[in-house]
Amino acid sequence: MYNSKIAGLGYYVPENVVTNHDLSKVMDTSDEWIQERTGIKERRHVIKGTDTTTSMGVKAAKIAIERAGIDKNDIDFIIFATLSPDYYFPGPGVLVQRDLEIDTVGALDVRNQCSGFVYAISVADQYVKSGMYQNVLVVGSELHSHGLDMTTRGRGVSVIFGDGAGAAVISREEDSTKGILSTHLHSEGQHAEELSLIAPGMGKRWVLDILKDNDPEDESYFPYMNGQFVFKNAVVRFSEVIMEGLQKNKLAPTDIDILIPHQANLRISQFVQKKFGLSDDQVYNNIMSYGNTTAASIPIALTEAWEEGKVKEGDLVVLAAFGSGFTWGSAIIRW
Ligand code: COA
Repeated sequence: MYNSKIAGLGYYVPENVVTNHDLSKVMDTSDEWIQERTGIKERRHVIKGTDTTTSMGVKAAKIAIERAGIDKNDIDFIIFATLSPDYYFPGPGVLVQRDLEIDTVGALDVRNQCSGFVYAISVADQYVKSGMYQNVLVVGSELHSHGLDMTTRGRGVSVIFGDGAGAAVISREEDSTKGILSTHLHSEGQHAEELSLIAPGMGKRWVLDILKDNDPEDESYFPYMNGQFVFKNAVVRFSEVIMEGLQKNKLAPTDIDILIPHQANLRISQFVQKKFGLSDDQVYNNIMSYGNTTAASIPIALTEAWEEGKVKEGDLVVLAAFGSGFTWGSAIIRW
Protein backbone atom coordinates (compact mmCIF):
# COMPACT_ATOMS: atom_id res chain seq x y z
CA MET A 1 0.00 0.00 0.00
CA TYR A 2 1.34 3.41 -1.03
CA ASN A 3 0.36 6.87 0.10
CA SER A 4 -0.89 9.62 -2.19
CA LYS A 5 -0.28 13.37 -2.22
CA ILE A 6 -1.24 16.47 -4.16
CA ALA A 7 1.93 16.96 -6.22
CA GLY A 8 0.87 19.92 -8.38
CA LEU A 9 -1.90 22.51 -8.50
CA GLY A 10 -3.18 24.99 -11.06
CA TYR A 11 -6.17 27.16 -11.86
CA TYR A 12 -7.56 29.26 -14.66
CA VAL A 13 -10.37 31.80 -14.66
CA PRO A 14 -11.64 33.75 -17.68
CA GLU A 15 -10.61 37.40 -17.87
CA ASN A 16 -14.11 38.85 -18.10
CA VAL A 17 -15.06 40.24 -14.65
CA VAL A 18 -18.78 40.68 -13.90
CA THR A 19 -19.46 42.84 -10.84
CA ASN A 20 -22.63 42.94 -8.77
CA HIS A 21 -23.23 46.35 -10.28
CA ASP A 22 -23.08 44.80 -13.78
CA LEU A 23 -25.75 42.28 -12.75
CA SER A 24 -27.98 45.02 -11.37
CA LYS A 25 -28.20 46.41 -14.93
CA VAL A 26 -29.84 43.21 -16.26
CA MET A 27 -31.92 42.08 -13.26
CA ASP A 28 -33.52 43.55 -10.17
CA THR A 29 -30.70 43.09 -7.66
CA SER A 30 -28.09 45.18 -5.87
CA ASP A 31 -24.49 45.02 -4.73
CA GLU A 32 -25.71 45.43 -1.16
CA TRP A 33 -28.14 42.45 -1.34
CA ILE A 34 -25.58 40.12 -2.94
CA GLN A 35 -22.72 41.04 -0.61
CA GLU A 36 -24.85 40.87 2.51
CA ARG A 37 -26.27 37.40 1.73
CA THR A 38 -23.30 35.76 0.00
CA GLY A 39 -20.13 37.86 0.39
CA ILE A 40 -19.71 37.89 -3.42
CA LYS A 41 -18.41 41.09 -5.03
CA GLU A 42 -17.66 39.82 -8.53
CA ARG A 43 -17.30 36.67 -10.59
CA ARG A 44 -15.89 35.69 -13.99
CA HIS A 45 -18.06 34.90 -17.01
CA VAL A 46 -16.72 33.33 -20.19
CA ILE A 47 -17.32 35.48 -23.26
CA LYS A 48 -19.28 33.36 -25.75
CA GLY A 49 -17.08 31.64 -28.29
CA THR A 50 -13.90 31.82 -26.23
CA ASP A 51 -13.49 29.20 -23.49
CA THR A 52 -15.38 26.00 -22.76
CA THR A 53 -15.50 23.89 -19.60
CA THR A 54 -12.87 21.63 -21.17
CA SER A 55 -10.56 24.40 -22.42
CA MET A 56 -10.50 26.03 -18.98
CA GLY A 57 -9.81 22.62 -17.40
CA VAL A 58 -6.97 22.00 -19.85
CA LYS A 59 -5.36 25.36 -19.01
CA ALA A 60 -5.53 24.61 -15.28
CA ALA A 61 -4.26 21.05 -15.88
CA LYS A 62 -1.16 22.22 -17.81
CA ILE A 63 -0.11 24.37 -14.85
CA ALA A 64 -0.74 21.55 -12.35
CA ILE A 65 1.25 19.05 -14.44
CA GLU A 66 4.19 21.44 -14.79
CA ARG A 67 4.20 22.16 -11.05
CA ALA A 68 4.08 18.43 -10.29
CA GLY A 69 7.38 18.21 -12.17
CA ILE A 70 6.16 15.46 -14.49
CA ASP A 71 5.67 15.11 -18.22
CA LYS A 72 2.06 15.01 -19.48
CA ASN A 73 2.68 11.44 -20.65
CA ASP A 74 3.40 10.44 -17.04
CA ILE A 75 -0.33 10.92 -16.35
CA ASP A 76 -1.88 7.46 -15.88
CA PHE A 77 -5.52 8.46 -15.55
CA ILE A 78 -7.81 11.50 -15.85
CA ILE A 79 -10.77 12.37 -13.63
CA PHE A 80 -12.97 15.34 -14.57
CA ALA A 81 -15.62 16.78 -12.25
CA THR A 82 -18.25 19.17 -13.61
CA LEU A 83 -21.98 19.88 -13.77
CA SER A 84 -21.58 21.96 -16.94
CA PRO A 85 -20.00 19.66 -19.53
CA ASP A 86 -19.35 20.79 -23.12
CA TYR A 87 -21.53 17.97 -24.45
CA TYR A 88 -24.39 15.87 -23.08
CA PHE A 89 -22.02 12.99 -23.92
CA PRO A 90 -19.14 12.19 -24.07
CA GLY A 91 -17.98 13.85 -20.87
CA PRO A 92 -15.03 16.24 -20.77
CA GLY A 93 -12.52 13.67 -19.44
CA VAL A 94 -11.86 12.30 -22.92
CA LEU A 95 -11.67 15.84 -24.34
CA VAL A 96 -8.86 16.59 -21.89
CA GLN A 97 -7.05 13.44 -23.01
CA ARG A 98 -7.41 14.61 -26.62
CA ASP A 99 -6.56 18.27 -26.06
CA LEU A 100 -3.54 17.55 -23.88
CA GLU A 101 -2.42 15.10 -26.59
CA ILE A 102 -1.51 12.44 -24.09
CA ASP A 103 -1.47 8.68 -24.37
CA THR A 104 -4.75 6.71 -24.46
CA VAL A 105 -5.12 6.64 -20.68
CA GLY A 106 -8.51 6.14 -19.04
CA ALA A 107 -10.76 9.14 -18.44
CA LEU A 108 -13.57 9.23 -15.90
CA ASP A 109 -16.27 11.87 -15.42
CA VAL A 110 -17.61 12.69 -11.97
CA ARG A 111 -21.14 14.13 -11.60
CA ASN A 112 -21.20 15.35 -8.02
CA GLN A 113 -21.63 19.09 -8.48
CA CYS A 114 -20.20 21.15 -5.61
CA SER A 115 -18.72 18.02 -4.00
CA GLY A 116 -17.26 16.93 -7.35
CA PHE A 117 -13.65 17.76 -6.60
CA VAL A 118 -13.63 16.02 -3.20
CA TYR A 119 -15.27 12.95 -4.77
CA ALA A 120 -12.72 13.05 -7.62
CA ILE A 121 -9.65 13.24 -5.40
CA SER A 122 -11.11 10.46 -3.26
CA VAL A 123 -11.25 8.23 -6.36
CA ALA A 124 -7.73 9.29 -7.40
CA ASP A 125 -6.49 8.60 -3.86
CA GLN A 126 -7.74 5.00 -4.00
CA TYR A 127 -6.09 4.34 -7.37
CA VAL A 128 -2.75 5.72 -6.19
CA LYS A 129 -2.85 4.04 -2.77
CA SER A 130 -3.65 0.66 -4.32
CA GLY A 131 -0.61 1.01 -6.62
CA MET A 132 -2.71 0.88 -9.80
CA TYR A 133 -1.64 4.36 -10.93
CA GLN A 134 1.25 6.69 -10.04
CA ASN A 135 -0.10 10.02 -11.30
CA VAL A 136 -3.78 10.88 -11.64
CA LEU A 137 -4.89 14.21 -13.12
CA VAL A 138 -7.98 15.60 -11.38
CA VAL A 139 -9.80 18.54 -12.95
CA GLY A 140 -12.78 20.55 -11.70
CA SER A 141 -14.18 23.05 -14.20
CA GLU A 142 -17.45 24.91 -14.65
CA LEU A 143 -18.97 27.16 -17.26
CA HIS A 144 -22.09 28.28 -15.42
CA SER A 145 -22.72 31.59 -17.10
CA HIS A 146 -23.97 30.17 -20.42
CA GLY A 147 -26.74 28.30 -18.57
CA LEU A 148 -28.00 30.88 -16.05
CA ASP A 149 -31.26 32.80 -16.19
CA MET A 150 -29.88 36.34 -16.28
CA THR A 151 -33.25 37.99 -15.65
CA THR A 152 -34.98 38.93 -12.39
CA ARG A 153 -36.71 35.53 -12.49
CA GLY A 154 -33.36 33.80 -11.99
CA ARG A 155 -31.72 36.25 -9.57
CA GLY A 156 -31.85 33.90 -6.55
CA VAL A 157 -29.42 31.55 -8.33
CA SER A 158 -27.66 33.52 -11.07
CA VAL A 159 -25.89 36.02 -8.83
CA ILE A 160 -24.11 33.22 -6.96
CA PHE A 161 -22.37 31.21 -9.68
CA GLY A 162 -19.21 31.93 -11.67
CA ASP A 163 -16.93 30.28 -14.24
CA GLY A 164 -13.45 28.84 -13.75
CA ALA A 165 -11.30 25.73 -13.44
CA GLY A 166 -8.82 24.14 -11.06
CA ALA A 167 -6.67 21.04 -11.33
CA ALA A 168 -4.47 18.82 -9.20
CA VAL A 169 -2.05 15.99 -9.90
CA ILE A 170 -2.40 13.24 -7.30
CA SER A 171 0.83 11.25 -7.14
CA ARG A 172 2.39 8.36 -5.26
CA GLU A 173 4.04 9.37 -1.97
CA GLU A 174 6.47 7.00 -0.26
CA ASP A 175 6.37 8.75 3.15
CA SER A 176 3.41 7.20 4.97
CA THR A 177 3.01 10.18 7.33
CA LYS A 178 2.36 12.61 4.46
CA GLY A 179 -0.31 13.18 1.85
CA ILE A 180 -4.02 12.41 1.73
CA LEU A 181 -4.78 10.79 5.08
CA SER A 182 -8.43 10.01 4.41
CA THR A 183 -11.52 11.08 2.47
CA HIS A 184 -15.17 10.90 3.55
CA LEU A 185 -18.12 10.92 1.16
CA HIS A 186 -21.89 11.09 1.69
CA SER A 187 -25.15 11.55 -0.19
CA GLU A 188 -28.83 12.06 0.54
CA GLY A 189 -30.82 11.71 -2.68
CA GLN A 190 -34.05 12.47 -0.85
CA HIS A 191 -33.25 16.15 -1.52
CA ALA A 192 -32.12 15.72 -5.14
CA GLU A 193 -34.51 18.32 -6.58
CA GLU A 194 -33.79 21.02 -3.97
CA LEU A 195 -30.73 22.10 -5.97
CA SER A 196 -31.03 20.84 -9.50
CA LEU A 197 -31.27 21.42 -13.22
CA ILE A 198 -34.06 19.14 -14.44
CA ALA A 199 -33.88 19.55 -18.23
CA PRO A 200 -32.87 18.27 -20.72
CA GLY A 201 -32.93 15.04 -18.71
CA MET A 202 -34.50 11.94 -20.22
CA GLY A 203 -36.57 11.31 -17.10
CA LYS A 204 -39.97 12.52 -18.19
CA ARG A 205 -39.97 13.62 -21.81
CA TRP A 206 -39.01 12.42 -25.25
CA VAL A 207 -36.37 14.61 -26.87
CA LEU A 208 -38.67 15.14 -29.87
CA ASP A 209 -41.30 16.66 -27.54
CA ILE A 210 -38.64 18.91 -26.00
CA LEU A 211 -37.64 20.17 -29.44
CA LYS A 212 -41.27 20.59 -30.51
CA ASP A 213 -42.19 22.57 -27.36
CA ASN A 214 -39.16 24.89 -27.76
CA ASP A 215 -40.59 26.96 -24.89
CA PRO A 216 -38.40 29.87 -23.73
CA GLU A 217 -40.55 30.13 -20.58
CA ASP A 218 -39.66 26.55 -19.57
CA GLU A 219 -37.74 27.12 -16.31
CA SER A 220 -36.62 23.50 -16.08
CA TYR A 221 -33.69 24.45 -18.32
CA PHE A 222 -32.32 26.72 -15.60
CA PRO A 223 -30.85 25.68 -12.27
CA TYR A 224 -33.27 25.68 -9.34
CA MET A 225 -32.21 26.17 -5.73
CA ASN A 226 -34.22 26.15 -2.53
CA GLY A 227 -31.70 28.58 -1.02
CA GLN A 228 -32.64 28.53 2.65
CA PHE A 229 -33.08 24.74 2.73
CA VAL A 230 -29.67 24.32 1.06
CA PHE A 231 -28.11 26.75 3.53
CA LYS A 232 -29.50 24.92 6.59
CA ASN A 233 -28.35 21.52 5.33
CA ALA A 234 -24.95 22.86 4.25
CA VAL A 235 -23.92 24.20 7.65
CA VAL A 236 -24.84 20.90 9.34
CA ARG A 237 -23.20 18.61 6.77
CA PHE A 238 -20.02 20.72 6.45
CA SER A 239 -19.54 20.52 10.22
CA GLU A 240 -20.34 16.80 10.43
CA VAL A 241 -18.02 15.72 7.64
CA ILE A 242 -15.08 17.83 8.86
CA MET A 243 -15.50 16.31 12.34
CA GLU A 244 -15.79 12.81 10.85
CA GLY A 245 -12.47 13.29 9.05
CA LEU A 246 -10.70 14.66 12.09
CA GLN A 247 -11.95 11.88 14.35
CA LYS A 248 -10.94 9.20 11.86
CA ASN A 249 -7.36 10.49 12.13
CA LYS A 250 -7.50 11.07 15.91
CA LEU A 251 -7.23 14.82 15.36
CA ALA A 252 -9.11 17.78 16.83
CA PRO A 253 -10.26 21.11 15.32
CA THR A 254 -7.24 22.74 17.02
CA ASP A 255 -4.98 20.62 14.76
CA ILE A 256 -6.32 22.28 11.57
CA ASP A 257 -3.78 24.61 9.96
CA ILE A 258 -6.01 25.57 7.06
CA LEU A 259 -9.57 24.74 6.05
CA ILE A 260 -10.42 25.17 2.37
CA PRO A 261 -14.20 24.95 2.19
CA HIS A 262 -16.11 24.71 -1.08
CA GLN A 263 -16.93 28.34 -1.84
CA ALA A 264 -20.72 28.02 -1.63
CA ASN A 265 -21.47 31.20 0.26
CA LEU A 266 -19.24 33.29 2.55
CA ARG A 267 -21.90 33.10 5.28
CA ILE A 268 -21.70 29.29 5.25
CA SER A 269 -17.88 29.41 5.55
CA GLN A 270 -18.13 31.91 8.40
CA PHE A 271 -20.64 29.71 10.24
CA VAL A 272 -18.27 26.72 9.97
CA GLN A 273 -15.27 28.86 10.99
CA LYS A 274 -17.08 29.97 14.15
CA LYS A 275 -18.27 26.46 14.98
CA PHE A 276 -14.72 25.12 14.90
CA GLY A 277 -13.21 28.19 16.60
CA LEU A 278 -10.87 28.89 13.67
CA SER A 279 -9.20 32.24 13.02
CA ASP A 280 -9.49 34.16 9.73
CA ASP A 281 -6.02 32.86 8.76
CA GLN A 282 -7.18 29.26 9.18
CA VAL A 283 -10.04 29.45 6.67
CA TYR A 284 -9.37 30.35 3.04
CA ASN A 285 -12.11 32.18 1.15
CA ASN A 286 -12.08 33.68 -2.33
CA ILE A 287 -15.79 33.60 -3.16
CA MET A 288 -15.69 37.41 -3.04
CA SER A 289 -13.76 37.40 -6.34
CA TYR A 290 -15.08 34.33 -8.18
CA GLY A 291 -18.55 33.49 -6.82
CA ASN A 292 -19.43 29.81 -6.46
CA THR A 293 -17.58 27.85 -9.16
CA THR A 294 -18.94 24.47 -7.98
CA ALA A 295 -16.47 21.64 -8.79
CA ALA A 296 -13.76 24.22 -9.51
CA SER A 297 -14.04 26.15 -6.26
CA ILE A 298 -11.85 23.98 -4.01
CA PRO A 299 -8.97 23.53 -6.50
CA ILE A 300 -9.01 27.27 -7.34
CA ALA A 301 -8.99 28.19 -3.63
CA LEU A 302 -6.38 25.56 -2.74
CA THR A 303 -4.10 26.73 -5.55
CA GLU A 304 -4.42 30.38 -4.54
CA ALA A 305 -3.80 29.54 -0.87
CA TRP A 306 -0.72 27.51 -1.86
CA GLU A 307 0.56 30.31 -4.14
CA GLU A 308 0.15 32.79 -1.27
CA GLY A 309 2.25 30.56 1.02
CA LYS A 310 -0.73 29.69 3.22
CA VAL A 311 -0.34 25.95 2.61
CA LYS A 312 3.05 24.80 3.86
CA GLU A 313 4.87 21.52 4.24
CA GLY A 314 3.66 19.68 7.34
CA ASP A 315 0.37 21.62 7.54
CA LEU A 316 -2.90 19.85 8.25
CA VAL A 317 -5.12 20.88 5.33
CA VAL A 318 -8.84 20.11 5.42
CA LEU A 319 -11.04 20.24 2.31
CA ALA A 320 -14.81 20.12 2.72
CA ALA A 321 -17.73 20.42 0.34
CA PHE A 322 -21.51 20.26 0.19
CA GLY A 323 -23.90 20.62 -2.72
CA SER A 324 -26.53 19.32 -5.08
CA GLY A 325 -27.56 15.72 -4.57
CA PHE A 326 -27.32 16.41 -1.73
CA THR A 327 -23.73 15.22 -1.63
CA TRP A 328 -20.98 16.19 0.75
CA GLY A 329 -17.45 15.14 1.62
CA SER A 330 -14.11 15.99 3.19
CA ALA A 331 -10.44 15.24 2.69
CA ILE A 332 -7.83 15.35 5.45
CA ILE A 333 -4.34 16.04 4.09
CA ARG A 334 -0.92 16.29 5.75
CA TRP A 335 0.93 18.57 3.31
N1 COA B 1 -31.27 40.29 -5.42
C1 COA B 1 -32.25 40.88 -4.73
N2 COA B 1 -33.25 40.21 -4.13
C2 COA B 1 -33.25 38.88 -4.26
C3 COA B 1 -32.25 38.18 -4.97
C4 COA B 1 -31.24 38.95 -5.57
N3 COA B 1 -30.23 38.40 -6.28
N4 COA B 1 -32.51 36.86 -4.93
C5 COA B 1 -33.62 36.71 -4.20
N5 COA B 1 -34.08 37.93 -3.80
C6 COA B 1 -35.26 38.25 -2.99
C7 COA B 1 -36.30 37.15 -3.02
O1 COA B 1 -37.14 37.28 -4.14
C8 COA B 1 -37.03 37.41 -1.72
O2 COA B 1 -37.92 38.45 -1.90
P1 COA B 1 -39.36 38.44 -1.16
O3 COA B 1 -39.04 38.43 0.32
O4 COA B 1 -39.99 39.69 -1.63
O5 COA B 1 -40.04 37.20 -1.61
C9 COA B 1 -35.93 37.91 -0.78
O6 COA B 1 -34.87 38.33 -1.63
C10 COA B 1 -35.41 36.83 0.15
O7 COA B 1 -35.15 35.65 -0.60
P2 COA B 1 -34.57 34.36 0.06
O8 COA B 1 -34.41 33.33 -1.01
O9 COA B 1 -35.39 34.04 1.26
O10 COA B 1 -33.15 34.92 0.51
P3 COA B 1 -32.10 34.24 1.45
O11 COA B 1 -31.88 35.10 2.61
O12 COA B 1 -32.39 32.81 1.69
O13 COA B 1 -30.80 34.31 0.55
C11 COA B 1 -29.45 32.84 -0.76
C12 COA B 1 -30.77 33.59 -0.66
C13 COA B 1 -29.51 32.04 -2.05
C14 COA B 1 -28.31 33.83 -0.81
C15 COA B 1 -29.28 31.93 0.46
O14 COA B 1 -30.44 31.19 0.70
C16 COA B 1 -28.14 31.00 0.32
O15 COA B 1 -27.01 31.44 0.29
N6 COA B 1 -28.37 29.68 0.26
C17 COA B 1 -27.34 28.69 0.08
C18 COA B 1 -26.85 28.79 -1.31
C19 COA B 1 -25.71 27.88 -1.61
O16 COA B 1 -24.81 27.81 -0.86
N7 COA B 1 -25.80 27.24 -2.73
C20 COA B 1 -24.78 26.42 -3.24
C21 COA B 1 -24.71 25.16 -2.48
S1 COA B 1 -23.33 24.35 -2.89
